[in-house]
Formats: sequence, structure tokens, C-alpha cells
Amino acid sequence: MREAQTSISLGGVDVPRDTIIQVAISVLHLDMEAWGPDANEFRPDRLANGAAAACKPAHMYMSFGYGPRLCTRQNLAMAELKVVLVRLLSKFSFSVSPGYQHSPVFRLTIEPESGMPLVVTRLA
Ligand code: HEM
Repeated sequence: MREAQTSISLGGVDVPRDTIIQVAISVLHLDMEAWGPDANEFRPDRLANGAAAACKPAHMYMSFGYGPRLCTRQNLAMAELKVVLVRLLSKFSFSVSPGYQHSPVFRLTIEPESGMPLVVTRLA
């Protein structure tokens, strides 16, 4: 969220001073004009060649924010995630449990409403 310190015009919308504005990041991440007609499909591979190849304009992909208040530890977080994933995927395989019910909900991020039960198998 951001608070307008002065009255401004944003993309033709008048925003009076003291207005609180919330950028709905999860909505931006489903915008078909930016991502293409398959924007609603779960296709993480679309980011294999970076956000600029997946989304126009590239800054519409803002998991870590955008501009002067960008997440200060974006690179650390991405490195941590890769380490965790490599350690897990080198020892286990994962598949979605038959009991999983597909029901995505908007909370802070888009989440499975009733969780995502997984079947975890130790690799030989
Ligand atoms: C997957 C993990 C993470 C995600 C998705 C994430 C995302 C974000 C987002 C969306 C913001 C707000 C940017 C804005 O207001 O415009 C932010 C800010 C921030 N993040 Fe992260 N973050 C992650 C991990 C981390 C980690 C591991 C650290 C520190 C070790 C960190 C430190 C910060 C700090 C200090 C800010 C405030 C920057 C400011 O207000 O100037 N983040 N992050």
C-alpha cells in the first residue's frame, strides 16, 4: 500500500492527497494483456527466460515489489529457495495427493484454499 503525500494524477485517475492506494499484485500477475491468453494457467516455465520474455511490460511481474521500495533481499530469497528446492528434489519426489481439491483463493498471495496435500516419496 502507498499513501499519496500530495494530490496526483495516476494514469488519468485523480488521486487526492492522503488517499491510500493498494496495488493488487496478484491481479497484475493474471493480466492477459501483459501475460497472454494463458495468463490464468499455472505455467511456471513461462519465466524460464526471465520476466522480460514472459510479460510485457516486464515490471508487471513484481513478486518482490517495484521501484524505490523493492525488496532489499530479493536475490538472497531466490538463492535460499533454490537451495531448499535442490535439497528436497535430490532426495524426494512429490506428487499431488488424490485428495487435493482445486480451489485457489486470493489472500496475501494466491493460495490453495484447503492446502495442498502431497505424496512424498524418498528417491532410491
Ligand atoms: C520469497 C521471499 C520474499 C518475497 C516474495 C518478498 C517480497 C517483498 C515485497 C513485495 C516487498 C515490498 C516492496 C514494496 O513495498 O514495494 C518486500 C520488501 C522488503 N523485503 Fe522482501 N520478500 C522476500 C524475502 C525477503 C527476505 C528473505 C528479506 C530479508 C532477509 C527481505 C527483506 C525485505 C525488506 C527489508 C523490505 C522493505 C524494503 C523497503 O521498504 O525499502 N525480504 N519484500
